[in-house]
Amino acid sequence: MTARIIDGKLIAERVRAKVKTDADEFRATTGITPGLIVVIVGQNPASQAYVKSKKKACLDLGWFSEIHEFPETVTQAEIEAEISALNADPRVHGILLQLPLPKHLDEQQLLEQIAPAKDVDGFHPVNVGKLALGLPAPVPCTPLGIQRLLIEENIPTSGKFAVVIGRSHIVGKPVAQLLLQKGPGGDATVCVCHSRSKDMPAIVCQADILIAAIGQPRFVPGEWIKPGAAVIDVGINRVDDAASPKGYRLVGDVDFESASQVAGAITPVPGGVGPMTIAMLMQNTLNCARASAAASKR
Ligand code: GUN
Repeated sequence: MTARIIDGKLIAERVRAKVKTDADEFRATTGITPGLIVVIVGQNPASQAYVKSKKKACLDLGWFSEIHEFPETVTQAEIEAEISALNADPRVHGILLQLPLPKHLDEQQLLEQIAPAKDVDGFHPVNVGKLALGLPAPVPCTPLGIQRLLIEENIPTSGKFAVVIGRSHIVGKPVAQLLLQKGPGGDATVCVCHSRSKDMPAIVCQADILIAAIGQPRFVPGEWIKPGAAVIDVGINRVDDAASPKGYRLVGDVDFESASQVAGAITPVPGGVGPMTIAMLMQNTLNCARASAAASKR
């Protein structure tokens, strides 16, 4: 059997087209242009590439967006001052602090300083709590993109056994919460595996839906996968490749070659989850702009 390849790029384009229509209408009725600021510290090449894509996605929609760059040596107080200024800036509806940060900065404290209403990443404890309670709030973009892929691809989740590998705050935990929630793209029986889990193959082989978010190249071999399962590969790992002009290429957390022989559907890397993350960031930014306009009317 050969798996159906889930075209994340195509689905992300559809999401972005809908966001554009909605944002244009919002702008026509309110005069408000959505605005997103991305704050980045240091020179991590992957992070640099991601933030450029995020800004470009905003500019493509005709939105306001800037990248605010800080050197590796920046102090906690300087980033705090930046976040305070962005919290107070009415042109800014979304603030994204690109992670990871250098070790000397207190990441959690900075994330908690972002106004929950501008927290387009959904990383603020207030928004994490709201997600757990099933209340409306910004939800982390990659998990939201994964759920949207499953919905758009008509992959049933209700009553299915979903296994998430990885317990990060960015992907593993929030995607588990989404799959657990009542409603479309939810109602799954969810299991989260991590580095201390025992006999992972025995758990993974039962998964109707497998979400791999470990950050290790080709961690999951095809032999672990249940025939016909839906496999969502969140990994974006650079591996050396002398044949490539860049000297590296991107591979996922799943061994695509063997997994695609067994799975029913699978996301490729690149072109699977990655484009969805940015599309959902645009959706979250528009939602924050909308909520801000509604709040200022009250
Ligand atoms: N680093 C990797 N993924 C993300 C993300 O979704 N948001 C932020 N802020 N940083 C990241």
